[in-house]
Amino acid sequence: MRLDKYLADMGIGTRSQVKQIIKKGMIQINNAICTNADCKINENTDIICYNGKPLIYEESRYYLLNKPMGYVCANKDNLHKTVFELLKGENLKGLFTVGRLDIDTEGLLIITNDGKLSHDLLSPSKHIEKTYYAHITGIADASHIDLCQKGLDIGDDKLTKPARLVILETNPMSNTSKIEITITEGRYHQVKRMFHVMGMEVTYLKRIAMGNFVLDASLPSGQFRRLHDDELKKLT
Ligand code: URA
Repeated sequence: MRLDKYLADMGIGTRSQVKQIIKKGMIQINNAICTNADCKINENTDIICYNGKPLIYEESRYYLLNKPMGYVCANKDNLHKTVFELLKGENLKGLFTVGRLDIDTEGLLIITNDGKLSHDLLSPSKHIEKTYYAHITGIADASHIDLCQKGLDIGDDKLTKPARLVILETNPMSNTSKIEITITEGRYHQVKRMFHVMGMEVTYLKRIAMGNFVLDASLPSGQFRRLHDDELKKLT
């Protein structure tokens, strides 16, 4: 790979910025300064240092973010803060979110540059389960469990696929319920729309699991960490 492409891929700067960095002698390849941007390197065996610090090349990167409210799942947004702003100090080049959570939804969000993993997790044919914890208006009961199981007409051309509704708590005084719902699709505002057609509104929504992977309870809202290999396996 060309040295300038490698450095740009590593998020050091744009292609023209890294050319300047190389020219200034700030890059070392195997302990020797290199000022030639065209130079070919082997990203797996050569030791490349920027300002004296070795760069670690990783083809695939996987992050778990506990998304807080108020952030959008977009690489750029003129109005709102994006989830990428929370990945402080990381190389953002090539990263995207695996699916989207609404601006007011919290919880488990995977961020990666691995298109295959993203496709596997989102593909309707794979039926990967996504579980949400929610507060809703109204009293959920067995009839709602049944409706979710049978599929709901939320205004799309097809009913929603069978979803598992678990009622955790109902509060007749405030006319509210706390529930968990597991769906296998990822339609736009799906959970909110499902409750809406059942005459209830979602007032709080948090994704807590994807596949067999459960959101790490020790990860505070707004914080991220790398995914471990065993966690990656659990996802698909
Ligand atoms: N369903 C919703 O309505 N919103 C989300 O963010 C995720 C699922």
